Amino acid sequence: MKDLKTALGDNAKAVNRVLDDLLVMSGGPESRVVEAMRYTALSGGKRIRPFLVTASADLFNVNKTSALRVAAAVEMIHCYSLIHDDLPAMDNDDLRRGQPTCHIQFDEATAILAGDALLTKAFEVVAGEETHDSSTVRAELTLALAKASGEAGMVGGQMLDLVAEDHELNMPEVTRLQRMKTGALIAVSCEAGAILGKASKNAHHVLHAYAHDIGLAFQIADDLLDVEGDEKEVGKKTGKDAAAGKATFVSLLGVERAREQAQLLADQAASHLDIFEEKAKLLKDLAHYVVNRTA
Ligand code: IPE
Ligand code: IPE
Ligand code: MG
Ligand code: MG
Ligand code: MG
Repeated sequence: MKDLKTALGDNAKAVNRVLDDLLVMSGGPESRVVEAMRYTALSGGKRIRPFLVTASADLFNVNKTSALRVAAAVEMIHCYSLIHDDLPAMDNDDLRRGQPTCHIQFDEATAILAGDALLTKAFEVVAGEETHDSSTVRAELTLALAKASGEAGMVGGQMLDLVAEDHELNMPEVTRLQRMKTGALIAVSCEAGAILGKASKNAHHVLHAYAHDIGLAFQIADDLLDVEGDEKEVGKKTGKDAAAGKATFVSLLGVERAREQAQLLADQAASHLDIFEEKAKLLKDLAHYVVNRTA
């Protein structure tokens, strides 16, 4: 079996090929929005969510084309969330993945449209017949992605993140915020593999438990990187959360306890997957990578 680093790299290349095929410049003047979509969607990134889709799908021997289309769709939603997160009205960031953010490279209006179009394109891709023979599976994927992205998931979490700038939050409140803001899209990435593979209820449940834990661990690691990461390596500005008065695990627990908490969650995440034995090795390794990453 490949090691995690190779598997992540190979998967990123495969997802890039699919994104490149799906995001087509029309040639007309409206192509500017596609240029902005491609600018962010093909700008690197760790591609963790698409990896979760394909690695979960592999547990159920799903065909590669299906898994990669869904992986590309999830990455499009993630990229849309990043473009909007960086806007002046939100985090007002000018650096993302080591390059100027979308609104700096283009302009604010184009960045808003590029985000909107990446979100809708993701649903076009998932609903497309090439994604799965079964329309029921395609509908289930659509529903799960919509729930994870909207007001009960990522968007709701982003709203809480903004509201929290002028409110003190306690642990349960920060946990809820993080689970919605970041955890929901990570969870649906794993769930997508199970939906594509028509997995048993128990397999769904186990993957959900895994995703729940790595989602939170992932955001704790992101908050730690904001405090102690190297700007060049992480490819985005650091020190922004404290400056903006964001409520994070680090602001509540301090660096040491936040790190311990993330490690604990990673161990717990990996142990959920024991029922899949060797087949889940990459996903287990990913749980540890997520908390030990430097970017
Ligand atoms: C950054 O996500 C935004 C969060 C949800 C914390 P990633 O750390 O996955 O960003 P990329 O895709 O690798 O750039
Ligand atoms: C953003 O969280 C999560 C999203 C839904 C995009 P952050 O604001 O912490 O992400 P970064 O640190 O800018 O990547
Ligand atoms: Mg933010
Ligand atoms: Mg941000
Ligand atoms: Mg952050």
